[in-house]
Amino acid sequence: MVERRIPKMRDLAPLMQFKKPEFNARRRRLAAATSIYDLRAIAKRVTPRAAFDYTDGAAEGEISLARARQAFHDIEFHPSVLRDVSAVDTSREVLGRTSAMPFGIAPTGFTRMMQTEGERAGATAAAAAGIPFSLSTMGTTSIEDVAAAAPDGRNWFQLYMWTDRERSLALVDRAAAAGYDALILTVDTPVGGAACET
Ligand SMILES: Cc1cc2nc3c(=O)[nH]c(=O)nc-3n(C[C@H](O)[C@H](O)[C@H](O)COP(=O)(O)O)c2cc1C
Repeated sequence: MVERRIPKMRDLAPLMQFKKPEFNARRRRLAAATSIYDLRAIAKRVTPRAAFDYTDGAAEGEISLARARQAFHDIEFHPSVLRDVSAVDTSREVLGRTSAMPFGIAPTGFTRMMQTEGERAGATAAAAAGIPFSLSTMGTTSIEDVAAAAPDGRNWFQLYMWTDRERSLALVDRAAAAGYDALILTVDTPVGGAACET
């Protein structure tokens, strides 16, 4: 007869990880998301269609969007095993200051149309992560309010140069006065992309 070995509770305990129940439905949904595609699916359910499509879609046949996505899929991480990973440093010097990771949050217009807290949330999250946040000329929170939302954060300002140069330069002055330390000049949008009905 087989003699069964009953595992000891002490040995099993480290393998059993119980999560604390999350009663906040929003936090529960977000915690269950494991990829950007999961977040997209959540956003699609909770965002009005026009706002979702503006954020998710691209111009005409979305060919450049598909190519950009492919470029990211083509990147492969090469695992370096059997190395000391006790002190991993992902920081990089970006435009004269250290960023905790080698990227930042790109500027998006009409941000609060997609999510109520919008730029404030983006700037606060970027500051907490130690990466730069970029405010769009078409942003939906003022230059000063974004700076105030994340006083320890690092903000960049994105400029669309309008025909009215004075008004454009006044924005740059305000950004500089509010402590923004880089200017992103967007030059590839002389006209808006044509949306495509699918
Ligand atoms: C919804 C949305 C709004 C955007 N708004 C702006 C904008 O106001 N100004 C700008 O310079 N770029 C804008 N962009 C471009 C992004 O800043 C970024 O350059 C582009 O999405 C490429 O980065 P990605 O591959 O990480 O999406 C926008 C992009 C998206 C998706």
